[in-house]
Amino acid sequence: MSDRLFIFDTTLRDGEQVPGCQLNTVEKIQVAKQLELLGVDVIEAGFPISSPGDFNSVIEISKAVTWPTICALTRAVQKDIDVAAEALKYAKHKRIHTGIGTSDEHIKYKFNSNREEIIERAVAAVKYARKYVDDVEFYAEDAGRTDNEYLARVVEAVIKAGATVVNIPDTTGYCLPSEYGEKIKYLMEHVDGIHNAIISTHCHNDLGMATANTMAGVLNGARQVEVTINGIGERAGNTSLEELAMILKCHKHIGIDTNINTQKIYPTSRMVSSLMNMPVQPNKAIVGRNAFAHSSGIHQDGVLKNVQTYEIIDPHDVGIDDNSIVLTARSGRAALKNRLHILGVNLDQEKLDKVYEDFLKLADKKKDINDDDILVLAGADRTQNHRIKLDYLQVTSGVGVHSVASLGLDISGEKFEACASGNGPVDAAIKALKKIINRQMTLKEFTIQAISKGSDDMGKVHMQVEYDNRIYYGFGANTDIIAASVEAYIDCINKFKLD
Ligand code: KIV
Ligand code: ZN
Repeated sequence: MSDRLFIFDTTLRDGEQVPGCQLNTVEKIQVAKQLELLGVDVIEAGFPISSPGDFNSVIEISKAVTWPTICALTRAVQKDIDVAAEALKYAKHKRIHTGIGTSDEHIKYKFNSNREEIIERAVAAVKYARKYVDDVEFYAEDAGRTDNEYLARVVEAVIKAGATVVNIPDTTGYCLPSEYGEKIKYLMEHVDGIHNAIISTHCHNDLGMATANTMAGVLNGARQVEVTINGIGERAGNTSLEELAMILKCHKHIGIDTNINTQKIYPTSRMVSSLMNMPVQPNKAIVGRNAFAHSSGIHQDGVLKNVQTYEIIDPHDVGIDDNSIVLTARSGRAALKNRLHILGVNLDQEKLDKVYEDFLKLADKKKDINDDDILVLAGADRTQNHRIKLDYLQVTSGVGVHSVASLGLDISGEKFEACASGNGPVDAAIKALKKIINRQMTLKEFTIQAISKGSDDMGKVHMQVEYDNRIYYGFGANTDIIAASVEAYIDCINKFKLD
């Protein structure tokens, strides 16, 4: 019989920590419900003490989700645990995830403490959390760089104190797969009472080894893995859920099963990428645009003769369907609603009508409307309540002439206009914008990406603007890339914290 591996998804906590990836509560609920459909066992919904937004999201996700355990992160601090317990009060199955750094670097520089005191604090936190919930997970932060003998003492102590799951994070993404596997093996063999808890992996991808390390952990006895959709997370990210799930599906001989419905992988990946405005790299395993695209003549020839020559995964198994480009100007509301449903987005009638209206406008400009376009449209009302909106934009540009832009803004119902010339159409448009919004702000990063192919395609623009010593992230999507750029800049400005 196969062993069961528990999937702990931290897209909404470690993933959401990534600058620019923040979601509002409604979007987090949408992702959480999709994770439930995907079949994850645990959803880490946030770090409640970190902000009122996180606290509220944990409450609302707890109400919205039925089967998965809802988990809230804390430091090994009583106040954090009190707040997490309060945020989890509506969860049908709840877990508190508490912990402390255990590497010498953390003990010395972060806590100015010593090994014995850290064990005492860890034990106290677990005991305190157990007063609120039966399911307590302990994380030994920077376990990857913690020596195995000391780590075993920590793990033994927290299990005795009542931890039901013990997380061994490779916080800095430092370990080699052989080292990480050895670490888990060492714990399995040296910790008294290890079978009273589940050992969990939590690997970061700083050296590109997160998935390999996680697999090494699983092969040596870990029975929970902490993962994110598309591998997003702090710095270079976390182990990606889709890679882990498909490794175990492709290598059935390992004898480890998960509860993941792999056909929901692709729609979930698209949803997370679209809501977080975080593009997936084209060559990303499993969910990248090129993951199943055979380009060399030899490969194409082989695949045409028999797909098994070069394909180890059937794209349908991860939910990629060949009919994804089906909507045109002649498609009705029902077709749009159905496509959105397949993508995991369920809208009420009013919202659907609005998205349909935008869909028809886009279909006038663009022949085929693909899934990414639809997801962008479905997320477009994020800008609806914005104070500053683009009213109109006109740009003339060309080779050998200066670009000139005239632009109109609607600021809380009042109309403003400006005109500017610049070194290219985007420069001219942004200079005009800055004439109206006269603040000390600097464009720090600017990326333009076409969604699929074709000169009529939607362009997505991601921007970072510095204002008052802070970086703001903005997003715009439009078939006109100059308009998308201005929208992205305005999106940043709308987020400025103005005192
Ligand atoms: O990487 C890490 O150590 C973490 C812990 C908070 C679990 O994210
Ligand atoms: Zn982490």
